[in-house]
Amino acid sequence: MTSALRPATPEDADAIAELIRYCFARQTVVTDPLPSALKESGDNIRGHFAEGGGGAVYEGPAACLLWSGKDGGLYIGRVAVHPAWRGQGLAKRMLAMAEEEARRRGLPRLHLSTRLVLLDNRRLFAACGFVETTEEAHPGYAAPTFVNMEKRL
Ligand SMILES: CC(C)(COP(=O)(O)OP(=O)(O)OC[C@H]1O[C@@H](n2cnc3c(N)ncnc32)[C@H](O)[C@@H]1OP(=O)(O)O)[C@@H](O)C(=O)NCCC(=O)NCCS
Repeated sequence: MTSALRPATPEDADAIAELIRYCFARQTVVTDPLPSALKESGDNIRGHFAEGGGGAVYEGPAACLLWSGKDGGLYIGRVAVHPAWRGQGLAKRMLAMAEEEARRRGLPRLHLSTRLVLLDNRRLFAACGFVETTEEAHPGYAAPTFVNMEKRL
């Protein structure tokens, strides 16, 4: 079962995009603004790989996560687990894989952003060693809508 978690490749792009759209439409809270992930596309993910990005997928795929080098660290995005597979530690295992990748690249930190209203996500990332750093607002919003989190390695 452990071996089913593997690095993502450009050949996975369309399936990953479909999974991301499906999972982000099933967050625990409907967010304002709606997630840009709802419009994720295979072309966009192929571009992510072409620019040196990578990721993890759990066969199917039932789960995925993308990463790229950014701001002196490995930036993690699009963490998505199919509803039928949630609560079994797949997100945590993919985050551990991202941490291995950051160490391999010699990067000193992992970072990500999540919506302030997604309290379960914030708890999940905190349980994995991420701390909340700064809050920001989407363009056009007066109050903060998302929080940046990082894990120093
Ligand atoms: C957030 C998400 C990736 C978590 O995936 P997961 O594989 O269920 O996470 P794990 O099993 O590794 O960790 C589960 C932990 O996260 C919490 N959690 C967050 N969202 C959860 C959900 N929808 N179902 C079950 N557990 C959830 C649980 O409290 C659990 O904590 P515990 O281990 O202390 O009990 C998944 O719910 C998802 O795809 N959500 C929609 C997309 C999204 O919001 N992505 C993150 C954007 S920043």
